[in-house]
Amino acid sequence: AKLCVLISGNGSNLQAMIDAVDAGRLNAEIVGVISNRPNAYGLTRAENAGIKTLCLDHTEYADRAAYDVELQRAIESLQADAIVLAGFMRILTPEFVDAFAGKLLNIHPSLLPKYKGLNTHQRAIDNGDKEHGVSVHFVTPELDGGPVIIQSRVPVFEDDTADDLAERVQEQERRIYPLVLSWFSAGRLKMLNNKAILDEQEL
Ligand code: GRF
Repeated sequence: AKLCVLISGNGSNLQAMIDAVDAGRLNAEIVGVISNRPNAYGLTRAENAGIKTLCLDHTEYADRAAYDVELQRAIESLQADAIVLAGFMRILTPEFVDAFAGKLLNIHPSLLPKYKGLNTHQRAIDNGDKEHGVSVHFVTPELDGGPVIIQSRVPVFEDDTADDLAERVQEQERRIYPLVLSWFSAGRLKMLNNKAILDEQEL
């Protein structure tokens, strides 16, 4: 499948995808990487891998709707089969989400439906959770509310800082996102009636 990856920052998930393609574990082509932040390190990672990059700086647009129209146009010109949100720190308009229904994937650093939104690691610590983790899900107009495809759990230790926990979670992110994309690329994964389906089975 042709993947378009959207980022805002470091791009460690993007790197895991690049590495998985290189290693033959992910039969896909990353046709473009788009960032809303000009200084996102992930853009450098993409350039180093010879992938086409584009920066659409949200501060140059009047409002969210105008930005998303432009973003949609840029993605459509890449003719991607999947739009992969990988640390893309923007809320998307329902119009954008609907335009790519069933093709939009996101990774969220919590065991959804727990801790939608930001600062998930600190919130898990503050609540005294013994377990935390990460979810990959299809994107629907409800923020972090689309059907979950896979989750990975990690322990929370007594003296963990949010950074410690983030690191433990991100190790899992780099494992599960390429795996999900390999399923999608093989045509095994779909969204039907707001449910995630793998090999014709509801997840
Ligand atoms: C990840 O923790 C992801 O779950 C969250 O943002 C972070 C992005 O990291 N949505 P990176 O840019 O892929 O390194």
